[in-house]
Amino acid sequence: MIKVEGLYHSYSHDDKYAVRDASFEITRGEVFGFLGPSGAGKSTTQGVLTGLLQLQKGNVSVAGYDVKKPVRKMFNKIGVSFEQSNVYGKLTALENLEFYRKLFDVPTRDAMELLEIVGLDHVANQRAAEFSKGMKHRLTFIRSMINNPEIWFLDEPTTGLDPAIASEIKDIIKREKEKGTTVFLTTHNMFVADELCDRVGFIIDGEIKLIDSPRNLKLQYGEKLVEVDYRKNGGTVREKLSFIDESDRRRLNEIVNTGAIEMMHTKEATLEEIFIKVTGRGLE
Ligand SMILES: Nc1ncnc2c1ncn2[C@@H]1O[C@H](COP(=O)(O)OP(=O)(O)OP(=O)(O)O)[C@@H](O)[C@H]1O
Ligand SMILES: [Mg+2]
Repeated sequence: MIKVEGLYHSYSHDDKYAVRDASFEITRGEVFGFLGPSGAGKSTTQGVLTGLLQLQKGNVSVAGYDVKKPVRKMFNKIGVSFEQSNVYGKLTALENLEFYRKLFDVPTRDAMELLEIVGLDHVANQRAAEFSKGMKHRLTFIRSMINNPEIWFLDEPTTGLDPAIASEIKDIIKREKEKGTTVFLTTHNMFVADELCDRVGFIIDGEIKLIDSPRNLKLQYGEKLVEVDYRKNGGTVREKLSFIDESDRRRLNEIVNTGAIEMMHTKEATLEEIFIKVTGRGLE
């Protein structure tokens, strides 16, 4: 659904690149997470993929269309939610959606229904200028769904939202995924990425360092430790043992054989820990 080969982008049109030699493919129905710290080049990449920024170098096709010459048909197939809300303040929430739906020549979703799913139906006739940041963000988010996009670009869809709404947004994304929508999700929140994404790409200083599924990354970079709590002399003792170390494995067997285990769980690395291991930098 998305194919990127050797993508470069320079805002200053010189050799100072915001994105450098990025290549990746996203298949139909996949949720792909683009993870990286601030300034890594995530939004720039999304900008080029959605035709907002002109392609300078490389090959990019989205839904089978070459973004060098974006066509109306491509815009009908994609939905884009921006990092910064860009709704019309003078229009009401409902008018914003009604205005936007007219830009497409494919069947669109009912505006009121969309407002309902993010809890904005009660302010449907209020001007967007009077909305809080989170409300504007939700309006930008649902606006990106109005044309039933096959490919959905979401730039930081949950950032700055209160936890209940963020969780609601995550559920909406999951439901769309079940319907087969392809999602390009940009975030620096590794919990969101871990929960939603089939694969993640780590980007830093404009370069993609690695692409894999959260599960494979954890298997590959996880510490493979097991934490065991067991009863001993009337108290509880905790031991941390490695799956790889031979003597630790023997010790684990010994503890299991005592039959005194109270709790045991494997400790897996978080995506953030893996990101730091791979790139030497944090995600913030
Ligand atoms: N309009 C612009 N003009 C010039 N430089 C820009 C512009 N937008 C972004 N940049 C630069 O390009 C680089 C990548 O920025 P980008 O917005 O793609 O990062 P990001 O990964 O989305 O970061 P964040 O997590 O903060 O949103 C940064 O160095 C940034 O300063
Ligand atoms: Mg960004």
